[in-house]
Amino acid sequence: MRFEAEDRVFVLTGAGVSAASGLATFRGSGGLWNGHRVEDVATPEAWEADPGLVWRFYSMRRRDALAAQPNAAHVALAELEKQMGDRFYLCTQNVDDLHERAGSERVHHMHGTLFESRCVWCEKPFADRAFYEDGAALPVCAECGRAVRPHIVWFGEVPLDLNSIFRELERATVLLVAGTSGSVYPAAGFVDVAHRRGIETIYVGPEEPLNARAFSEILLGPATEVLPTLL
Ligand code: OAD
Repeated sequence: MRFEAEDRVFVLTGAGVSAASGLATFRGSGGLWNGHRVEDVATPEAWEADPGLVWRFYSMRRRDALAAQPNAAHVALAELEKQMGDRFYLCTQNVDDLHERAGSERVHHMHGTLFESRCVWCEKPFADRAFYEDGAALPVCAECGRAVRPHIVWFGEVPLDLNSIFRELERATVLLVAGTSGSVYPAAGFVDVAHRRGIETIYVGPEEPLNARAFSEILLGPATEVLPTLL
């Protein structure tokens, strides 16, 4: 794929891009939520009911992400960013840091990040790589003493900085989506915005996403194979 000087690329990634790094997807067989119902661990209600369970779950995810390595799909996107600079925008639904570890610098984590936490009251995110499990005390805010929660967007919460996402979508000339089932909104609706603007919309993944009809091109295959070839 060749990009012209006036092109701006908007990339949306999902769990499938980290699948080859050994991080389970949400909805695939053997998916991350097996054994843990989503509403037991990733909602504000779950947090109210049992913060210890929620922290055990996200501590496990921190461990898994720390043990994983970026794959060829992450690297291909980091290389494209090096060529395009600020004409490249990467929006990810993933909370792992594999895009950054592959070299990406302009990553917007619309569903938050595993390695940050925030006070439920002060709300300012801070770096946190600790594990709160096996009887460890749950974290509290150093300033106000209230509970500290994962800096993750749970079901029913609003994704981070939607304004910048839609600003970038409005000026992109290509939308490239990889490894997401197209089932969680608003991310699943980005392709509709792009489609209405008449720009090229490409999906990469081993199977068609739920919103396949809105894409101008579907490239079937693992992101680790398709993205390096495409880009
Ligand atoms: P899903 O688990 O819903 O979808 C993963 C997608 O990755 C599927 O469409 C697979 O076909 C595809 N896939 C699997 N292996 C792949 C590979 N090697 N290369 C490319 N694609 C592959 O995950 P998401 O769509 O990311 O939200 O889920 C969206 C959101 O739902 C998540 O961010 C999370 C979840 O609940 C929150 O936590 C708020």
